[in-house]
Amino acid sequence: MYRTHTCGELRLENVGGEVTLAGWVQKSRKLGGMTFVDLRDRYGITQLVVDASAPEELQQTAESLGREFVLQVTGKVVERESKNPKMPTGDIEIAVSAIKVLNKAQTPPFTIEENTDGGEDLRARYRYLDLRRKPLQRALALRHRLAQEIRSYLDGEGFMEIETPYLIKSTPEGARDFVVPSRMNPGQFYALPQSPQTFKQLLMVAGYDRYFQIVRCFRDEDLRADRQPEFTQIDCEMSFVEQEDVLNTFEGMMRQMFKNALGVDIPNPLPRMSWYDAMDQYGSDKPDIRFGMTIHEVSDLVKDKGFGVFDAAEYIGAISVPGAAAYTRKELDQLTEWVKRPQVGAKGLVYIKLNEDGSIKSSVDKFYTPEQLQAVADRVEASKGDLLLLLCGSKRKTQGQLGVLRIEMGNRLGLRDPKVFAPLWIVDFPLLEWSEEDNRFYAMHHPFTAPKPEHEQWFYSDKKEDLERVCANAYDFVLNGTELGGGSIRIHEAAMQERMFEVLGISKEDAEYKFGFIINAFKFGAPPHGGLAFGFDRVCALFGGQETIRDYIAFPKNNQGRDVMIDSPSQIDQTQLDELQLSVNIKA
Ligand code: AMO
Repeated sequence: MYRTHTCGELRLENVGGEVTLAGWVQKSRKLGGMTFVDLRDRYGITQLVVDASAPEELQQTAESLGREFVLQVTGKVVERESKNPKMPTGDIEIAVSAIKVLNKAQTPPFTIEENTDGGEDLRARYRYLDLRRKPLQRALALRHRLAQEIRSYLDGEGFMEIETPYLIKSTPEGARDFVVPSRMNPGQFYALPQSPQTFKQLLMVAGYDRYFQIVRCFRDEDLRADRQPEFTQIDCEMSFVEQEDVLNTFEGMMRQMFKNALGVDIPNPLPRMSWYDAMDQYGSDKPDIRFGMTIHEVSDLVKDKGFGVFDAAEYIGAISVPGAAAYTRKELDQLTEWVKRPQVGAKGLVYIKLNEDGSIKSSVDKFYTPEQLQAVADRVEASKGDLLLLLCGSKRKTQGQLGVLRIEMGNRLGLRDPKVFAPLWIVDFPLLEWSEEDNRFYAMHHPFTAPKPEHEQWFYSDKKEDLERVCANAYDFVLNGTELGGGSIRIHEAAMQERMFEVLGISKEDAEYKFGFIINAFKFGAPPHGGLAFGFDRVCALFGGQETIRDYIAFPKNNQGRDVMIDSPSQIDQTQLDELQLSVNIKA
């Protein structure tokens, strides 16, 4: 055995015992005739001491140790004279009798500490060293804990974990596919799954009425803090269920995860909000409900009073920022520039200050009486000391901009504490989304999502207004302004699925080519079914109080989709290309 204990284990009650530890040198220092070494493994750090009475050879070995050397150390546990209450092992140290250097190490390119001096790129290149650091260990330990909770909960609920293939055909999630050439079928390609969507539905047809999988998905899309080209879903599907059953089951799973991993009780039942309310009040389908500052329409109060910009607008909305009436002219000018940035896209910003002394000051004083401005303040439930911010334009676009502004003001006011958790379900999504650009409908969730039964008559109508009204039994799980998961009750009849493809403007031939297998399967007795998938990396990051998912993935990609440690993607050699019967011709 290499070790009798880990480096995080020994306490006062072990004093007097003879132990052997193995681990990495965190640091070593000489104090008078003594050498102190901090030995680290993933369980903790233990202090070793070699004093002046030790044999010469041992003293020399102790003095020669560099950072990250791998050691096996034997010695006696002794009580420390000066205890370190910050370390769990801080009451003891090891009086060393033997040191074996198991392996030397080059000096690492950055410090292996809680707060390292290494930049992002350097740490990515030496990910295996970064992973030795506590914050990453904590992140991966949380991920492991959550995975165990998920498996235990779903197993307890009768779900079977079933794997589905990675080399498949294009899936319907709407991002770009990663493709893999087939050597045995020259000129043909597999697509990597954007999700196991079609397979889990086929498992329902096959009678496996409760399926789950913690599964890798692949999407070739632009990357952000909460997006990776390969990411992990907690993917689930159930037969003979209605929306209510799915929501209850997965609310239960989340409740257990919060309780057992964080000791947090989330509300029971979770709040639910319709997609329409979320858009109207938060300007987002993933509202952060940790704070108020909700959006109110004020069009009826400010239109037709002579202010041309508002008079011409379809929609005028406002938020009230508590305590921000003290914003200076300069700060307001900066905020105006901020909303005009392309990321927000507003044309301008109108403000109304409700000063502490009861007076009202606004950027549109010329056009409105104090009473008219007060009416706006009343609508938005603002009081003295608050700052009202108004944007105008087309309805959904303006609400979206107000939503972005609301989040910004929430950040500035410190209202978005990552240790506060405010989960909710968003329900009643529209089934379809009209694209002006492409002059066609897209599925808001994906093309296998069923219309609400009570909206079916509109689904079969040819009128655009009717189709726009159709809601889906679709739902998203939202936490603190992030979409953690989503799903729906599915179409399970071939005829309705064919109608869906027709509405989406997918030709019969194209539907047959891409999804013929599933339409066909529906002809052999498909049960009513529905499900959802959570983004596991996002769940881990938010549980850990972070917005970026990268630290919760052992080996992530950077923003260019590269793994800079293994240097991938990279060119392949000519033999491989020849085997695939491919030639590379990069267009300039
Ligand atoms: P959807 O496309 O909404 O649904 O994906 C489910 C969840 O996966 C996470 N997610 C991602 N996480 C990290 N990086 C990405 N690039 C990424 N893309 C998505 C999100 C999202 O909520 N088949 C359906 C589910 C279903 O209907 O059952 C699906 O994949 O947290």
